[in-house]
Amino acid sequence: MKPVKVGLLGLGTVGTGVVRIVEGHQEDLRSQVGSPIVIEKVLVQNKDKARSISIDASKLTEDVADIIYNPDIDVVVEVMGGIEHTKQHILEALSRGKHVVTANKDLMALHGQEILAKAAENRCDVFYEASVAGGIPIIRTLIEGFSSDRITKIMGIVNGTTNYILTKMSQEGASYLDVLKEAQQLGYAEADPTSDVEGLDAARKMTILARLGFRAEFALEDVSVQGISGVSKEDILYAKRLGYEVKLLGIAERSDDQIAVSVQPTMVKQSHPIASVNGVFNAVYVHGEAVGETMFYGAGAGELPTATSIVADLVAVVKNLKIGVNGLQDVASYKETKLKTDEQ
Ligand code: NDP
Ligand code: HSE
Repeated sequence: MKPVKVGLLGLGTVGTGVVRIVEGHQEDLRSQVGSPIVIEKVLVQNKDKARSISIDASKLTEDVADIIYNPDIDVVVEVMGGIEHTKQHILEALSRGKHVVTANKDLMALHGQEILAKAAENRCDVFYEASVAGGIPIIRTLIEGFSSDRITKIMGIVNGTTNYILTKMSQEGASYLDVLKEAQQLGYAEADPTSDVEGLDAARKMTILARLGFRAEFALEDVSVQGISGVSKEDILYAKRLGYEVKLLGIAERSDDQIAVSVQPTMVKQSHPIASVNGVFNAVYVHGEAVGETMFYGAGAGELPTATSIVADLVAVVKNLKIGVNGLQDVASYKETKLKTDEQ
C-alpha cells in the first residue's frame, strides 16, 4: 500500500506531538486507513535548534517551498501559527491539490471562508479540529453530532492558559505573572500570550464555534471581548468567599436570527460543574432545542492532547481519499489524475 505523505509546517509543541503520535500509533493508524502515514518533510525556522524529539535531519527544511511545491506531499499539516504568510502557504498548497489540517484558530477565525472556498474549488479537505479546545473533538461534534438539532447556546472555557492561571491564583494564591510564565513553559500559551490573557484567543475560538454551531456567518469583530489581565488575586479571593470561582467564559447565543458572542471573566457559582474545570482543562456546553444540555470536557492545550485532534483529522483526510470523497479514489490515482490535468 502506498504511504500517505505528510508535510508538517512547524515542529514546536504541537508539531512534536504530531510526530510522536504518527510514529507511536503507526500500526493502529494503518489499520484504520490501510496505508502507512509518513511525515515526509518538516518546516522549521531553525534547523540547528535543539529539539525534544529525534528526527531525521534530512526531513527538516527552512524553505516552505520544499513542502507546498513538493509533488510527493499529499497532506499539509500546519502547526506553525501566524496569519498572513501562513494563509498564503495554505492557499498555495490547496491550489496544488494538497489537503490541509491546521490547528490555527487565528487563521480560521479571520480567513476561514476564503480557505474553505479555495479547498472546495480544488476538491480538497481542510480540517481544523485542533483549533478549538485542544483535545476535545468539539468541531466534529458540532458538525456531525448536532446535525439533526438546532443549537441555541454554546458556552464554556475555551482557553487553557487563562484557566490554568485563574486556577493557580484561586487554589494556590499564585501570582498572575508567575503562572503565566509557567503556562508558557508548558507550551500552553500562544507565541504572543497577549492573545490568551486579553481574551482574543477565546474570541477567535468562539467565532469558529458560533459559525459551525449556528450554521451562519459570524464575524470576529462582533465578539465582545474582555480578558483576565485586570483580574486580581483579591477579586478571586472575594469571589471565593461569596461562593464563586472566576472563569473566563465564552458565550454564544442565538435568539431568532440574532447571534451574540462574548468572552469575559465571569463569577461562576461553586456548585456549577464549570467552576470545577481546573488547570489547562476546557469545557464546552452545547444546548440544542431537541437534545437539551450537553457538556464536553478535556485538555484544552498541550502537546499530545492537541496532536490527537490533528492526527484524527489526518485520518479523516486519508479515509476521504480512500473512499473517493472529493472525487478522489485514492492517493495514487489522485496524483495520476492531477498529473494528467496539469499536463493538459
Ligand atoms: P510553537 O511556537 O511551539 O511552534 C511553532 C513551530 O513553527 C516551531 O517549530 C517553529 O520553528 C515553526 N515556525 C514558526 N514560524 C515559522 C516560520 N515563519 N517559518 C518556519 N517555521 C516556523 O507553537 P505551538 O506548537 O504551540 O502552536 C502551533 C499552532 O498550534 C499555533 O497556531 C497555535 O495557536 C496552535 N495551537 C497550539 C496549542 C498548544 O497547546 N500549544 C493548542 C491548539 C492549537 P522552530 O522550532 O525552528 O522555532
Ligand atoms: N493558547 C491556547 C490555550 C492553546 O491556552 O488555550 C490552545 O488553543
